Amino acid sequence: MQRRFLQGVKLWGNYKIDCVCLPKNSMNKRDFLKISGIVGTGFLLSPQMACKTLKSGAKSSTSAWIDPLLSAKGEFTLPALGYSFAALEPHIDAMTMEIHHDKHHAAYIKKLNEGIKATPAFADKTLGEILANVTKDSPAIRNNGGGHYNHSLFWAVLGANGSKPEGKLWEAINRDLGSYQQMLDTLKDAGTKVFGSGWVWVCVDADKKLFISATPNQDNPLMVNLVEKKGTPLFGIDVWEHAYYLKYTNERKKYLEAIFNVLNWNVIGERYANLLL
Ligand SMILES: [Fe+2]
Repeated sequence: MQRRFLQGVKLWGNYKIDCVCLPKNSMNKRDFLKISGIVGTGFLLSPQMACKTLKSGAKSSTSAWIDPLLSAKGEFTLPALGYSFAALEPHIDAMTMEIHHDKHHAAYIKKLNEGIKATPAFADKTLGEILANVTKDSPAIRNNGGGHYNHSLFWAVLGANGSKPEGKLWEAINRDLGSYQQMLDTLKDAGTKVFGSGWVWVCVDADKKLFISATPNQDNPLMVNLVEKKGTPLFGIDVWEHAYYLKYTNERKKYLEAIFNVLNWNVIGERYANLLL
């Protein structure tokens, strides 16, 4: 079992994480597949890892758990998508996915690495520390660091599995965001109102309540020097034209309605459970 788990971890190797913990208890096949699948898209859910990560200095504003991506240090490389480019058809077309992942995300990573080399203050910092320290005076790191984290999270929370929020996440959505449908309506409204390019988010705040926000360009709610309300993103939706223009042209609202069909609520639910730790 240990050998199998490490095969899953190997997919994560691009991020050069500074700690890897094996689960205390042996895993059955279902658990292994769940974990290795999430690793493949860049997110390993391990409370034991979280504890060690916190000891290394990275901090989460809301929880003892932290995305392993945030504890990664450069040189950063493009994470695997974890599914085929066509997997989200007909909602998100394969060509858009290929260009978005292989060209746009790759470009953010290349420029982030170049920016870090040119900016000694960000050298040897984790991605979480980078995002927490960017300001208006560090545009290259801000835009490309955000671009890397935002897209890595985006790929991880997509999947054509027809899932819906369940359990405590469902209850929290009803409690904090009105209802599942109201959450989607608010996201759609916020997304269509983003001027130019940006993201819309469902986040967890310091009181572990959900909130919805929007950020311009590649900003995100982890950039505490830049956002009105900080929080840990549960998931985000890219509303840059490069995310939808080939299929939806200028119809951003139709894109948003479509992408709601391919949110992977299993992954989002796992993230939410860990943010409550
Ligand atoms: Fe994008």
